[in-house]
Amino acid sequence: MWQLAVIPALQSRGLGTLLIRAAEQRIRSRGLRRAELAVEENNPRARALYERLGYSAFGREPDAWDEEGPDGSMRRHETMCVLMRREL
Ligand SMILES: CC(C)(COP(=O)(O)OP(=O)(O)OC[C@H]1O[C@@H](n2cnc3c(N)ncnc32)[C@H](O)[C@@H]1OP(=O)(O)O)[C@@H](O)C(=O)NCCC(=O)NCCS
Repeated sequence: MWQLAVIPALQSRGLGTLLIRAAEQRIRSRGLRRAELAVEENNPRARALYERLGYSAFGREPDAWDEEGPDGSMRRHETMCVLMRREL
């Protein structure tokens, strides 16, 4: 899973949980038995949600991606992520 997001006005209504559970069903239907995700170290709320859903941290790694600013310009976002996984 990468860049999971729910628009702010609709957060905390269970949609993120539904999306994660739906992705897990797709993983299982392909015969795979483990889901993995990465969450930024400075995002404790998302991390707490994943822990409630059964994910455990197993490592950390740097990551980077391009982000569009409000003025339309692109910039490189560099960060450190916690790696989490759950047996399905
Ligand atoms: C992380 C994110 C995707 C979670 O999506 P969400 O739809 O808010 O997730 P949920 O509603 O399933 O769960 C989040 C909260 O709602 C609560 N909740 C879950 N189901 C609920 C329901 N039926 N009714 C009320 N609250 C509910 C959860 O207890 C949780 O509580 P919290 O506010 O203390 O964290 C969302 O917050 C988001 O887009 N954040 C910004 C982007 C981001 O950080 N993405 C993660 C990248 S790794």
